[in-house]
Amino acid sequence: MKQITSLAEMQALVYPADAKIGFVPTMGYLHEGHLSLVERAKDNCDITVVSIYINPTQFGANEDLSSYPRDLERDLELLDSLGVDYVFIPTNEMMYPQPYLTWVNVDEYSELYCGQSRPGHFRGVATIVFKLLNLVRPHYMFMGEKDFQQLVILQKMLADLNHPCQIISCPIVREEDGLAKSSRNSYLSPEERIVARSLSQTLLQMKAMVAAGYKDATQLIKIAASNLENNGANVDYVELIDSRNLRKQTEIDDHSRMIMAAFVGKTRLIDNMLL
Ligand code: PAF
Repeated sequence: MKQITSLAEMQALVYPADAKIGFVPTMGYLHEGHLSLVERAKDNCDITVVSIYINPTQFGANEDLSSYPRDLERDLELLDSLGVDYVFIPTNEMMYPQPYLTWVNVDEYSELYCGQSRPGHFRGVATIVFKLLNLVRPHYMFMGEKDFQQLVILQKMLADLNHPCQIISCPIVREEDGLAKSSRNSYLSPEERIVARSLSQTLLQMKAMVAAGYKDATQLIKIAASNLENNGANVDYVELIDSRNLRKQTEIDDHSRMIMAAFVGKTRLIDNMLL
């Protein structure tokens, strides 16, 4: 595995002709969720590139940028053992030359849901992903469904900006008790860890209710939110949306997805499920 730490080297990298290039952008502190994306890229592409970069512009002023978990050495060992071809590790100076003035924003979608409690977050995500795509030049980008709003926003960004890269969305990888894998799970105390599983349990319960014939979105949202609160989580939002365009739904159909964010202690967790 080759490590690339300069812009010039990344830009000058020549891939073999006709090779399909797969890309997995990450902020490091890799878990099985990331590794499943890498494996998918390896299975479907000739060359796999992974980036490790904690993007400061997607963190709000009071968020966890400085404490975000890091373990570069372990990340590199894991990626190497999976047979990744290139790992790109840029610095803030490379990605945000000062004064930095150019941004990518997917209007409307970025203001919804997570965007309400994290203003500017998706502008930071869209900007860094667009920049990474310009540098890495992949045919396919592999992304997890856990950050579902991010996934739809980035798909819209690529479509609106006529970018040829295709996003391959991959299923959420969960702990044995259902908790969606996330680097931020490492913040949870053992007691909080028990509360945290109420997110996936609630989603499963809502899926079962839909299977049993419940169709009223308002009712389902209400039940889900009080379920979370009763289990000790502090709800940020629970919504029922159309998976294709993030629009709120009032009635369940084949595209209905419940999305949720809740604080467990100080840790903000997100999860979602197609109902
Ligand atoms: O999902 C993430 O880890 C980040 O938002 C991403 C896509 C790597 C951009 O920094």
